[in-house]
Amino acid sequence: MDYVIFMLCLCLSAGAISVVQGEDPYLFFTWNITYGTISPVGVPQQGILINGEFPGPNINSTTNNNIVVNVFNNLDEPFLLTWSGVQHRKNSWQDGVLGTNCPIPPGQNFTYRFQVKDQIGSYMYYATTAMHRAAGAFGGLRVNSRLLIPVPYADPEDDYTVLIGDWYSKSHSTLRKFLDSGRSLARPDGLLINGKAAKGDGKDEPLFTMKPGKTYKYRICNVGLKTSLNFRIQGHTMKLVEMEGSHTVQNNYDSLDVHVGQCFAVLVTADKDPKDYYMVASTRFTKTVLTTKGIVRYTNGKGPASPDIPEAPVGWAWSLNQFRTFRWNLTASAARPNPQGSYHYGSINITRTIKLINSAGRVDGKLRYAINGVSHTDAATPLKLAEYYMVADKVFKYDTIQDQPPDNVGDKITIATNVVNQTFRNFVEIIFENHEKSLQSWHLDGYSFFAVAIEPGRWTPERRKSYNLLDAVSRHTIQVFPKSWAAILLTFDNAGMWNLRSELTERRYLGQQLYISVLSPARSLRDEYNIPDNTMLCGVVKDLPKPPPYTI
Ligand SMILES: *[C@@H]1O[C@H](CO)[C@@H](O)[C@H](O)[C@H]1NC(C)=O
Ligand SMILES: *[C@@H]1O[C@H](CO)[C@@H](O)[C@H](O)[C@H]1NC(C)=O
Ligand SMILES: *[C@@H]1O[C@H](CO)[C@@H](O)[C@H](O)[C@H]1NC(C)=O
Ligand SMILES: *[C@@H]1O[C@H](CO)[C@@H](O)[C@H](O)[C@H]1NC(C)=O
Ligand SMILES: *[C@@H]1O[C@H](CO)[C@@H](O)[C@H](O)[C@H]1NC(C)=O
Ligand SMILES: *[C@@H]1O[C@H](CO)[C@@H](O)[C@H](O)[C@H]1NC(C)=O
Repeated sequence: MDYVIFMLCLCLSAGAISVVQGEDPYLFFTWNITYGTISPVGVPQQGILINGEFPGPNINSTTNNNIVVNVFNNLDEPFLLTWSGVQHRKNSWQDGVLGTNCPIPPGQNFTYRFQVKDQIGSYMYYATTAMHRAAGAFGGLRVNSRLLIPVPYADPEDDYTVLIGDWYSKSHSTLRKFLDSGRSLARPDGLLINGKAAKGDGKDEPLFTMKPGKTYKYRICNVGLKTSLNFRIQGHTMKLVEMEGSHTVQNNYDSLDVHVGQCFAVLVTADKDPKDYYMVASTRFTKTVLTTKGIVRYTNGKGPASPDIPEAPVGWAWSLNQFRTFRWNLTASAARPNPQGSYHYGSINITRTIKLINSAGRVDGKLRYAINGVSHTDAATPLKLAEYYMVADKVFKYDTIQDQPPDNVGDKITIATNVVNQTFRNFVEIIFENHEKSLQSWHLDGYSFFAVAIEPGRWTPERRKSYNLLDAVSRHTIQVFPKSWAAILLTFDNAGMWNLRSELTERRYLGQQLYISVLSPARSLRDEYNIPDNTMLCGVVKDLPKPPPYTI
């Protein structure tokens, strides 16, 4: 039972550290955010580039590395990036959403400093402001295991990041105008794999190469705006090894449904005829199926990829069944942020059940999306700063929504700043109930949760019988099928202000998100870092004197 001892050590050392650890290595980045012309679907359009790149640079880190990213905003609009799945233990100051950070004004810069503490896995970062995500400004972020920690598979020959997503040929500001005027986004214009779509005319450059006989890791993330995608590689099976930070039971899949905001890592062995193969992404649950492909080339390859593209699965029952096959590998050791309870989450008593029902509707004739009838609007002051400066009452009200809403709560929508209180260290059950006909994808910042069930119909307490209370994957994003529900369990042990959002960007932009306030009663360095010196101030806290720092 070596892993138990190992977990204990992590836990003790975590308790002893109060500031970013001096001995862990630092990775420094300077990022220049600019507009630039890109033509990913053959039409020139305005993109958002990071150091001239679309998609943005990959961050390649190792567990416990300290990451310092100085972001220079050279757009003409305020800008923020979030590090999706990075847990920012005690450090919601770095989360990069409008509820925690003032946006970086045009022409200015802000330095994010965070540690990928006790984490491994495949993640991504993206812009959270003003539909910027529709124009680029996203990229992959990987956290490798430290050398001394065994990984439950042989070292792959190489490690590739595959960012798949839907794409619009209109600029982010045009898309934003649609949403601001109360309209929905139409169908996407195409799909991209790492910012490209192969033409299939025999002249496409390969996205990836593989040496015959070798095994490669592919980290696949859906960075798109709204569409679930099925991903597959012609002629090859994919062995699933990791999902959003957890080593999984290693099943083989012909294809994987990747919902918006999710990341999977798979192993692929180059053991087929030496030639080119297409990797394929195609839309799921859409009337018209969009498909895109990219070339994977064997280094000794002799011949083009076959034009016969493997079929995508049909219907969402297939996707639900696939979800049920995802299991956490309980015997694989790996860094985990909250080892206490990780192994026995099924026997911890639930102290609070919160049901969140998503809905769409109109407010003053304009489209809005809501959670339990409340469509979130960002306050001019980041909620975290309002709390820290003890002026929360001037900025928002806690607990606008109820934990156990009536079924018709979503019929009437009101606009408000939506903040839910949590008691520090409570073990909580959250039920996402989707009464709508479209698929939903929920993401929580600051935490991993146990994704214990997705089931059709409405949730009732009896439905707890269907929970996986043994080896559900600990992850950060979960889909909910139409007219279905999903349940997650987690301990709210990371103090901070955390965004819970629909990953479907238009839904989030039009209010389908909320914040969870997790306050440590102690105001202590044991539970939360001090506000960083470089924190930008705005709104009502702009000229307030800084509260005394936490000292113990
Ligand atoms: C960022 O890019 C802009 C536009 O290319 C350029 O004017 C500016 O000097 C760059 N800033 C930095 C810090 O590299
Ligand atoms: C990523 O970092 C690891 C660990 O430092 C290193 O072994 C690997 O070569 C790096 N990969 C890339 C693509 O830079
Ligand atoms: C902006 O960048 C400079 C270094 O060029 C750095 O000293 C400063 O702290 C950065 N500003 C913020 C708010 O992080
Ligand atoms: C789980 O991890 C262990 C330990 O690394 C490994 O030996 C085992 O093969 C993995 N099990 C599965 C089913 O993937
Ligand atoms: C959990 O709840 C049960 C029933 O209410 C109780 O008997 C048990 O002691 C509780 N367990 C813990 C660890 O609090
Ligand atoms: C929520 O937290 C705030 C700040 O600690 C507190 O004033 C308020 O009473 C809490 N509300 C509830 C309903 O617990």
